[in-house]
Amino acid sequence: MQTFDSIARLRDELRQHRLAGRSIALVPTMGNLHAGHIRLIETAAQSADVVVASIFVNPLQFGRNEDLSSYPRTLQEDQRKLQAAGCHLLFAPDEQEMYPRGRDSQTRVEVPVLSDLYCGEARPGHFSGVTTVVCKLFNIVQPDIAVFGEKDYQQLRIVRKMVNDLCMPIDILSVPVVRADSGLALSSRNGYLSHQELEKAPALQAIIRQAAEALHQGRRDFSELEHEAILQLEAAGFKRDYFRIVRRSDLSPATQDDAALVILAAAWMGPARLIDNMELDL
Ligand code: PAJ
Repeated sequence: MQTFDSIARLRDELRQHRLAGRSIALVPTMGNLHAGHIRLIETAAQSADVVVASIFVNPLQFGRNEDLSSYPRTLQEDQRKLQAAGCHLLFAPDEQEMYPRGRDSQTRVEVPVLSDLYCGEARPGHFSGVTTVVCKLFNIVQPDIAVFGEKDYQQLRIVRKMVNDLCMPIDILSVPVVRADSGLALSSRNGYLSHQELEKAPALQAIIRQAAEALHQGRRDFSELEHEAILQLEAAGFKRDYFRIVRRSDLSPATQDDAALVILAAAWMGPARLIDNMELDL
């Protein structure tokens, strides 16, 4: 596997592959790779001839009081894992390469409405940072395919919407949430948890599953169910963020007529803001 920190050199390399008629898949990440990321790489390897991963901790998507400076950076270990998973090219630029004009880099790619809900409400500007950097990565790599995880459910929907609205010729593939045996969704931010917090954290998924079960058994009092779940989260040691039962098609609040739903939840366990979700068909 070759690692590039220069956009120009990565483009030169990719040009050769494109001329040889090879298809290209991109897996964007912020590094500190775990088995969830690796599943994305494997999916990319099954779907295209050349697999490109990117590692870039994107300052644009972090709020002022968020964990940009403490976000784990583990490049060497990541390179080893990527190589073992069948990744061909790694793009790992520094901030200067991605945003050479610093604050003068003004263009933003925005997907309104969807970006303002849920995680967007808790993290203003976050999704604008995500779509802007993902659009840049798409322009740099020009992949045929890009692979994203369903763990970041809202992010995936927003990226799909951007690609659709802007006619980007890229197939977006998604990979189901990869979990620890405890049920906890794997996340780089799990590394912030103490041993005790790690034991409590799987309750997030358990509470989502309970709500899904209640819906399957016929309950349709969505607001009441959401409220009960928030109380359960707090009883399990979380600080509340949101717990919403929403319509899959546009992520707006579920109504009595909706059958294709998804539960989206975010909550703080100690220093870590954890997110999880579950799709369900009633
Ligand atoms: P990051 O959090 O590193 O995640 C990179 C990709 O891995 C995302 O598509 C995410 O959904 C996926 N992923 C993370 N944990 C997963 C899990 N447990 N199961 C399945 N997939 C998982 O998401 C980002 O980075 C950034 O916002 C990025 C898209 C790279 C833009 O900066």
